[in-house]
Amino acid sequence: MSWVKRGACIAGLVALALAGGAHAAGGAIPLLEAKVELGDRASLQRGAKLFVNYCAGCHSARFMRYSRMGRDLGLTEEQVGANLMFASDKPGDPILATLGEADANAWFGRPPPDLSLSARARGPDWIYTYLMTFYRDESRPFGANNLVYPDVAMPHALVELQGVQARREDAGDGPAAPTGAGELLELVEPGSMSVAEYRRAVRDLVNFMVYVGEPAKLDRYVLGGWVLLFLLVFFVISRLLYKEYWKDVH
Ligand code: HEC
Repeated sequence: MSWVKRGACIAGLVALALAGGAHAAGGAIPLLEAKVELGDRASLQRGAKLFVNYCAGCHSARFMRYSRMGRDLGLTEEQVGANLMFASDKPGDPILATLGEADANAWFGRPPPDLSLSARARGPDWIYTYLMTFYRDESRPFGANNLVYPDVAMPHALVELQGVQARREDAGDGPAAPTGAGELLELVEPGSMSVAEYRRAVRDLVNFMVYVGEPAKLDRYVLGGWVLLFLLVFFVISRLLYKEYWKDVH
């Protein structure tokens, strides 16, 4: 094959790959970055509180028990009981939705999925973007739609905190919404939180969901520190031994 032909062939392949990539993106909006910090315990605690207050009515997180959550997040049993346990009074219970499945089906047409593994399945950035991009849409049963999950069956659970967003073409010239998602949305009715506060709240919530998806990760954070310390100490000891052994030889 001549160089020219080979060049044309490569160019063709690159064009194909690019076209494929563009197609896969399918016009979806770019995801916002969740930037969660699993080592930030205060953020996890705030996230847990938001989760039980705003999500656990409909969603369960079956793989997470209240007792384990309390231990991992550095909370006493009393603190967990007073602030986080609304659906149950036994610390050993998993986080179960208060809403029954039959009601959920009747109201939403589909049951709210268990959120134990959502952060792993969807990725933290997707969930962050999802919670940022609910917008007003009167054609939907709950008056809300979503940029990353079109025609979603979930109402905007955090609307009182975020306020109401609308698509730019439907809205006047309000302030830009906190999406950064191609400036597609704007805030038309403020909520109880400022834009920055809402971003932080959603970040905390996603952080908590990442933790729920893999609680063992927290242990590994701690363990990782000990392993490094062990290696350091071991290195020093082996250096000393090495010197000791070779002292007489040299
Ligand atoms: C009033 C009930 C209700 C509340 C409250 C609620 N959700 Fe939902 N949620 C749903 C329903 C129903 C679906 C299924 C939507 C669909 O498939 O169209 C859903 C879907 C989701 C999904 C998508 C899951 C997936 O991977 O497909 C995520 C993530 C989610 N909810 C997170 C949350 C979070 C976080 C909260 C708390 C801030 C919350 N939800 C509060 C009813 C609710």
